[in-house]
Amino acid sequence: MSAGPGRITKDLCSAFVIEPHGDAAGFQENGHALTDDHRSGMIDFESMASGDFYDERMKRRPAAQGGKKVVGMFSGHQGVLTEPRFMTNRKLGGWMVGPMRPMLPDGEVQVWQVAIDSASCRVEDLRGVLSAGEVARADRYRFEKDRQRSVVARGVLRNLLGRYLGLKPESVRFVTSAYGKPALDPSLGLHDVRFNVSHSGDQVLLGFAAGRDVGVDIERRRTVENADRVAEGVFSPQEFSVYRVLPAWQKEEAFFNCWTRKEAYIKARGKGLALALGSFDVSFVPGESARLLATRNDAGAADAWELRALDVGGGYAAAVAAQGRGWGLQCWALQSETL
Ligand SMILES: CC(C)(COP(=O)(O)OP(=O)(O)OC[C@H]1O[C@@H](n2cnc3c(N)ncnc32)[C@H](O)[C@@H]1OP(=O)(O)O)[C@@H](O)C(=O)NCCC(=O)NCCS
Repeated sequence: MSAGPGRITKDLCSAFVIEPHGDAAGFQENGHALTDDHRSGMIDFESMASGDFYDERMKRRPAAQGGKKVVGMFSGHQGVLTEPRFMTNRKLGGWMVGPMRPMLPDGEVQVWQVAIDSASCRVEDLRGVLSAGEVARADRYRFEKDRQRSVVARGVLRNLLGRYLGLKPESVRFVTSAYGKPALDPSLGLHDVRFNVSHSGDQVLLGFAAGRDVGVDIERRRTVENADRVAEGVFSPQEFSVYRVLPAWQKEEAFFNCWTRKEAYIKARGKGLALALGSFDVSFVPGESARLLATRNDAGAADAWELRALDVGGGYAAAVAAQGRGWGLQCWALQSETL
């Protein structure tokens, strides 16, 4: 099988960028995009792989003869990339930098992470894509850091929805459910992209899925005063009975595992605290995989929704929940220069 012109095909190396007309546009060498001089020749998609060596005409050539090493793999999907400046084959934080033109296959949930600090230099641009109501909402915060977080979270959401839908970020319109969950305005008549946003500390997490509800939650891990009492109040009795007897050294991690998994599920369902926190159980013991174990007032929900823990690094816990089972999960970091 050979890749079509201008397309990056899943599972094939894409440590390079392909221009729409189909010719190779360059690949990355030690973190630097190769220059225009190197944009010649067609890549042999099937044989190119991370760690292989190629010359500037994209022909395989050993390092000893001046071959350049392909430094990474694009972990994305079929799609056309048009911005050679922004390479997807490097990591930012723990996750790969996401593509400029992401595709959202039906069977997949995609989560993006952005550090508010890194995006703060773009705050004015992001502010420029917000609606008057969103600007007013951000301005109502008393502290600058909260105003900035509000602008970055909503601005990045608009930016990413714009990328998925091929719209300008400022053209995206939202509706809000009776429980406060924002969604795309159906009157736009666009592809059914659903999303959810969470912020904590310096991080914003955004989850997207096509035609399935999704919820994300991120929490900065910190010492919670009277954590056991808080846990007793918000965890289900079943969860608390497991939490209570954990060794002290596991409790903080367990607490935030449980919190973020419960919150991600609640947010996916979209009903806020109208969905009683004690009415369902999640797994949370450190080392155990994330699972929705039981949903007492909602027979069948435990089999109809799936939870995953997210490794967001840097002292944070995070989780994503989505409708259906067996969906693929793609995690990307957002490079602020692309905003
Ligand atoms: C409204 C709620 C989503 C707030 O969550 P939070 O953890 O404070 O905040 P997050 O940063 O994760 O999420 C906020 C975002 O969720 C979205 N949101 C708001 N209402 C929502 C709802 N009903 N469902 C899903 N998402 C919602 C919004 O996009 C909001 O961001 P925005 O205000 O910038 O637009 C809600 O779940 C809540 O109040 N939870 C209570 C917290 C709690 O006691 N948790 C115990 C867990 S064990």
